[in-house]
Amino acid sequence: MSTILETVGVGKMYGDFVALDDVSLAIAEGELVSIVGPNGAGKTTLVNVLTGLLKPTAGLVRFRGQDIAGIGPVMLARRGMARAFQLVHIFPAMTVRQTIAVAVVSQEGKGLRFFSAVDDDRGVRDRVREVASIFGLERKLETEARYLSQGEKKLLDIASAFALQPEVILLDEPTSGVSSADKHGIMRNVVDAAKKAGVKAIILVEHDMDLVAEYSTRIVALTAGKVLADRPPAAFFSDPEIVAAIVGKMVGRLAKEA
Ligand SMILES: Nc1ncnc2c1ncn2[C@@H]1O[C@H](COP(=O)(O)OP(=O)(O)O)[C@@H](O)[C@H]1O
Ligand SMILES: [Mg+2]
Repeated sequence: MSTILETVGVGKMYGDFVALDDVSLAIAEGELVSIVGPNGAGKTTLVNVLTGLLKPTAGLVRFRGQDIAGIGPVMLARRGMARAFQLVHIFPAMTVRQTIAVAVVSQEGKGLRFFSAVDDDRGVRDRVREVASIFGLERKLETEARYLSQGEKKLLDIASAFALQPEVILLDEPTSGVSSADKHGIMRNVVDAAKKAGVKAIILVEHDMDLVAEYSTRIVALTAGKVLADRPPAAFFSDPEIVAAIVGKMVGRLAKEA
């Protein structure tokens, strides 16, 4: 098992408040690791530490063995990790083609250019079409983002992260605000696309326990900034203590049944 991304004894304080306490975890090739836990458990803080947005106050964060503490999203993408940003990078007046092209061009290190120049570039055009078709957006290329459904917007957000050709992709609640029928479609799409695109690991923050149970290879449960459990789904959901501490406090169909 070859580790791609890890934290060793990570702590994060906000003033006097302990948001993460001695968190050690390792993510290897082929894994889809879900991070779960009640509100305020420290999930977003951990994701921000893992993607170099936040510097931990203690411990190490390593990507491919190199320290990435606090390096920021641009450097991180260059090293091979990308994150979908919950639609913050989706501009309503930009078309699907333009949105994906920005990511493709930045990945190719060509810097931002005028769209006319991008449109003239055959390589970029082909790559945009390819990424769009992986996510079922090829018939929406000329549609402005504001006219997409919520599910399509999520796919466009994730497609933009994929366009960076990352080894590791990080999804913070990719299906929030989407109907349960669409959630499975989105997750299926992402997992298939990851395989096709050669993505080696996925980190998922997700509240829907149905999705977590179905798609994770491993689940890391946080409570009050500490790792309560780190195990495969079967061992996770069969432990009454874990279910009471984590699943019972979260939303989703399995949570209600538990
Ligand atoms: N910038 C901040 N300053 C102070 N406290 C924060 C800050 N960000 C998060 N917190 C606190 O840290 C805890 C963990 O937050 P967060 O990582 O967002 O949890 P989660 O994503 O699991 O809901 C919460 O109690 C939250 O109020
Ligand atoms: Mg959060």
